[in-house]
Amino acid sequence: MKDFDYLKEGEVYLDAACQSLRPRCVIDAVSNYYTSHNSCGERVKYKWGVITDEIVEETRSLVLRYAGLKPKNYTVSFTLNTTYGINLILSQLNSSNFNKIITTEIEHNSPFLSSIAFSKRTGLPRELISRRDDGSIDLDKYDFTKAVVVLNCASNFDGRKLLNISELIKKVHQAKGIVIIDAAQAMAHSSDILHATEPDAICFSAHKLYAPSLGVIIWKNDLISKMDELILGGGMVDDVMKDSYILSAEGKEHRYTRFEAGLQAWGEIVGLNAALKWLMNLPKSAWKDLETNYTELYNYLSSSPKVHLVNQAPNPTISFYVEGVDSHMLGSALSRENIMARTGYFCAHYYLDHVLHLPPLVRFSLGLHNTTADIDKVKKVMEKIIH
Ligand SMILES: Cc1ncc(COP(=O)(O)O)c(C=O)c1O
Repeated sequence: MKDFDYLKEGEVYLDAACQSLRPRCVIDAVSNYYTSHNSCGERVKYKWGVITDEIVEETRSLVLRYAGLKPKNYTVSFTLNTTYGINLILSQLNSSNFNKIITTEIEHNSPFLSSIAFSKRTGLPRELISRRDDGSIDLDKYDFTKAVVVLNCASNFDGRKLLNISELIKKVHQAKGIVIIDAAQAMAHSSDILHATEPDAICFSAHKLYAPSLGVIIWKNDLISKMDELILGGGMVDDVMKDSYILSAEGKEHRYTRFEAGLQAWGEIVGLNAALKWLMNLPKSAWKDLETNYTELYNYLSSSPKVHLVNQAPNPTISFYVEGVDSHMLGSALSRENIMARTGYFCAHYYLDHVLHLPPLVRFSLGLHNTTADIDKVKKVMEKIIH
């Protein structure tokens, strides 16, 4: 694809689940920020700042449009990454509103560890529940009364989705709990799973969405009523007295400041703006090509007798191991052929190692930059290495 024309001949990047490659327009937007309107957003009155302000404000709206959420119910705040977003929420939730924290076995360490920390801090029990093979949850099996439920809507090792996300959210809300969605893996290629849902918060990483390194929290406006104010600083207040302050978030127009202590990554936000516009304007053929590519690779791997796939279905993210071949060695061999793939447990140690008892894996995670030639090359090289 011309948007990734900086890739060198023969380079095959298969680590999009970690960081997407950035299309040219995103790189240009960031570079343009530094060279023509390098300024803080939402603070300064000189003309560079006015340009940044407009883009930052538009980006908050674009995020909601892209995620298919109602603007009047939600606020968008920027932060460091998914992990930091989840921790920012959990570390400030007032435990008197809740009975327990629930997470699931297949989580990335980001919700997995932060839910352990929440339980330690608050003394509330933590419950680890299972997901079906297709990623959904058996809702009749668990008690969600006053639970903080934190979980992904797409996994980072095989992309399985939380298929009954709407039903889960309704059930948890009826039981007076809240749902925090880790959408790190969903936003790039399956954001439609979030459309018309009403979770209490969604955290994701722009760097997995063809944008620069940045975190985003989309949160329901009434979430702050359940939170203590613990992480505070510049940019969040309307006034400061000797021993007190008035938070800007108390006024609806600046609600987003509640999670934005200190200066933000303005250049990265500008890059996210460009990435969202790029994604929303892609021709259907680009999505079709992605599907063709990952289906082809999945079919190849599943037809190879020595390959053990974690995936039950084709997905841009595919994990596997090859019988008799150390995955890290396989990763190095692929790298020597200019194929960049990940090996190990991809921060899902608990499920992959301690529940499934799998050896370290190889992960191919595809993106919109991949071509048919990439897939042909991977098949050829895999054939050479494993046979
Ligand atoms: C499902 C999932 N959750 C959370 C994260 C953490 O993202 P970050 O490292 O950007 O905070 C990742 C990263 O790979 C992920 O795949």
